[in-house]
Amino acid sequence: MALKRENQANRQKEHWQPPPCIALSGLRRFFDLQAGTVWNDLVPLLAKAEGTLLDAGCGAQPYRPLLPPGVRYIGIDQLSAEADFGYKTPHTIYYSGDRWPVENGVADTILATETLEHVRDPRGFIAEAFRCVKGGGRLILTVPFSARWHYIPRDYFRYTPSGLNMLLAESGFTDVEIYARGNSVTVASLKCMALALPFLIPQADSLFERFAYMMAGALMLPWFLFFSVLGNISLAFAGGDDCLGYTAVARKPKS
Ligand SMILES: C[S@@+](CC[C@H](N)C(=O)[O-])C[C@H]1O[C@@H](n2cnc3c(N)ncnc32)[C@H](O)[C@@H]1O
Repeated sequence: MALKRENQANRQKEHWQPPPCIALSGLRRFFDLQAGTVWNDLVPLLAKAEGTLLDAGCGAQPYRPLLPPGVRYIGIDQLSAEADFGYKTPHTIYYSGDRWPVENGVADTILATETLEHVRDPRGFIAEAFRCVKGGGRLILTVPFSARWHYIPRDYFRYTPSGLNMLLAESGFTDVEIYARGNSVTVASLKCMALALPFLIPQADSLFERFAYMMAGALMLPWFLFFSVLGNISLAFAGGDDCLGYTAVARKPKS
């Protein structure tokens, strides 16, 4: 009998959605390998930030605590962020359209974490980053690679290092560096953990169903913990061809 498959073109939401990334406590970073590895990459990068940092698509501003004191922070996000992503964060400039609500060359650093895959016009977005960063300033981008389709239907793309390199170079950025976050063991661990998550954090409508899921979740807890530890250990090894995602850093030439 042929498998009856759902038409994915018409999907409007996820079957199960993880809790939103608000504050990134150490515990959350250990169990959320995506956010944890973004955090690990940003620690040394943001420690060097000076002047003004513009966080584009800032969501709940989870990486703002990594900024050294004295760095001016500007968070910008789309007006639709609350309806589409559940974010309504104080001290954020909400705007509509493609032009960022800031002047040319306002920032020494532009940060955009886990945002580019949600942007309909990535070339336009990177061109805005180029416009808004000072000559000599940096763009720091993170994107997922092995990640499930999320925030459906507003998750449009996955980027490879080749694609990122091309987009950044086309916009005029130079000194491009792209690093993989994790490797194939990290990806396998993430996927094994993901199997258990809907049972550990059930989102079924009826109380009975939730209870049944939680019972199954209790049985899966050792599995979840094992792969959490394995995933974190795997981060000691390099990756590239398969990984959780990429962190890219690029510079706008001085002149
Ligand atoms: C997955 S969230 C990431 C939020 C935050 N940067 C983080 O790392 O947790 C994606 C964000 O991208 C924003 N976004 C989507 N399209 C955008 C665009 N064209 N320009 C700016 N932000 C955009 C969304 O509103 C949302 O806040």
